[in-house]
Amino acid sequence: MSTNGTRPTIVLDGENVAFTPGETVYEAATRHGKDIPTLCYDPRLEPFGGCRLCVVEVEGARAPVASCTAQCQAGMEVRTRSARVEVHRRTLMEMLASENREVDVDELTSLASQEMAELVDRYEARTGRFQGRKSGASRPDDPNPFIMRDYDNCISCYRCVRVCAEQEGDYAISVKGRGFDTQITVEFDGHLKESACTFCGQCVHTCPTGALGDLKALAHRDVPGETKKTRTVCPYCGVGVRWTSSPAATS
Ligand code: SF4
Ligand code: SF4
Ligand code: FES
Repeated sequence: MSTNGTRPTIVLDGENVAFTPGETVYEAATRHGKDIPTLCYDPRLEPFGGCRLCVVEVEGARAPVASCTAQCQAGMEVRTRSARVEVHRRTLMEMLASENREVDVDELTSLASQEMAELVDRYEARTGRFQGRKSGASRPDDPNPFIMRDYDNCISCYRCVRVCAEQEGDYAISVKGRGFDTQITVEFDGHLKESACTFCGQCVHTCPTGALGDLKALAHRDVPGETKKTRTVCPYCGVGVRWTSSPAATS
């Protein structure tokens, strides 16, 4: 059966579920409570399909399919947690964990910085099985006071490049090289201060490994007291400006 009333359906882990035309397999699956791991995915960005961690099995397809880019088709049969895709995901996480200088980074580094470590733990991927050549060269020489650029911990998910282009419209950073020579860079391989960067912090916010970090936050990691999250009225930067109706604050 491939329709549910007037809505088309897919078979998701054996259950017939409706989808909205244009919806990706990942969107439909998560809407129905499936927990599919992702790394290059950010719901604010266009689907990219780079990390292959979100793969699922689709009946009739020769290889696992990236669920974040594949659109639902009526009658499609999808398995989100088969042994085959779980082995694939674990191997991927082992490769990423082996390739980065470190997996565990300070929580203050950025909002998304724990994503990679959490997935490495979930897949018990600290095996070092693929230790060897590493990609990405850090830029400790970058003199900007806001953003740490530690590309030894980069996994080339391009979330930073895409958020800069798609959300900020800035195009301040890009990718150069291929394979192990892949490197996030700014024009002429220079410093962020000399680029179109406005230091909005969106790239730091989305980086899942801590390769990009908030230098101001990290400088305060030894300040005693609890670290708190803040609701802010402005999504532009990481300062966290709050709305208050007190006369003192509005005068
Ligand atoms: S801080 Fe903002 S403008 Fe600068 S590179 Fe990051 S996303 Fe682009
Ligand atoms: S710096 Fe972070 S967000 Fe950018 S490509 Fe590398 S891991 Fe992804
Ligand atoms: S999250 Fe789908 S390929 Fe990366």
